[in-house]
Amino acid sequence: MKVDGTPYRTIWLAADGTTVQAIDQTLLPHRFVVRDLRTMEDAEVAIRTMIVRGAPLIGAAAAYGMALAMATDPSDAMLARAYTVLMESRPTAVNLRWALDDQRALLAPLPPAQRRRAAYRRAAEICDEDVEICRRIGENGLGLIRKLKPRDTKSGRINALTHCNAGWLATVDWGTALAPIYHAHDAGIPIHVWVDETRPRNQGASLTAWELGKHGVPHTVIADNAGGHLMQHDQVDFVITGTDRTTRGGDVCNKIGTYLKALAAHDNGVPFYVGLPYPTIDWTIVDGVRDIPIEERSARELSHMTGRTETGELATVQILPEGSAGANPAFDVTPARLVTALITERGVCDASEAGLLSLYPEQQNRAA
Ligand code: MRU
Repeated sequence: MKVDGTPYRTIWLAADGTTVQAIDQTLLPHRFVVRDLRTMEDAEVAIRTMIVRGAPLIGAAAAYGMALAMATDPSDAMLARAYTVLMESRPTAVNLRWALDDQRALLAPLPPAQRRRAAYRRAAEICDEDVEICRRIGENGLGLIRKLKPRDTKSGRINALTHCNAGWLATVDWGTALAPIYHAHDAGIPIHVWVDETRPRNQGASLTAWELGKHGVPHTVIADNAGGHLMQHDQVDFVITGTDRTTRGGDVCNKIGTYLKALAAHDNGVPFYVGLPYPTIDWTIVDGVRDIPIEERSARELSHMTGRTETGELATVQILPEGSAGANPAFDVTPARLVTALITERGVCDASEAGLLSLYPEQQNRAA
């Protein structure tokens, strides 16, 4: 997608052929800064501190992290260390494990002298593949949007509601949840997006609003608690989110608060769609509530907020009283029964094992 007329991906290889560059998402929407990742440790810090975030982008960054490790030291010991260090950077998004398993399976049988080149090539392929997958999710989701009739006939627009950021910033390009919205907007469909601010890190207010604005998509930021009210008043035609891990049974793990949106959508008969690429499906798990590890993040994300002052500096302020404890589970699981449909690069299916297997029949014999 373009930033002020210049096409960008979220992550790419620099001209020196070794350094990896990524947009620093901790500074958006106030500063647009590109960070250099020169070592595997830089990649690990970028994932852990959310300079890069969003399940598909975490996978792409981990793949480049393996390449950076091989550029420093292509030994078996470094391969094993890089795998372990990167795997521990964030626990919930399964794309991380998928990308690391993929790189390790490719690199381990190769002689060390060939590993650096192979690792960079595979990381670049993973990025290109992600772009194409997300483009197809956009096309498949557009088919669903075309069938919707606005509930508020006076407004003459289709109203989407999204949570967190599952746009191009969360992937390499296009996004998952936002790809159908970009396709609809580009096709001339009058679409407007309610953007959940997504406390505590505000990925909706900071990132989704920024990228929709850069592309000219009409949108309105709302407090996380406003969605149910808007649904009761016919102001939401569909909800669409991304996912960090989807079980083979169709349970969807996504940013904390997604489950409450799904409950409100269910109660109001509003379709709840989830956009996902195949590396986000965890074929080893059926029950997401029981088996998906939920990342617990620092309470400081609740107690402090960063923003731009009237004079243009970035400032961090404390909003909780001294001494109050905070708990910060970063994700929750929406059971499959609350999901109207899954939108993948291969098509649209029911959120169920049968639905997923109808699109991915090659997984039929893989044990849960
Ligand atoms: O903690 P984050 O910002 O990495 O969480 C991101 C999300 O929850 C996204 O919705 C999810 O990764 C899907 S991204 C296409």
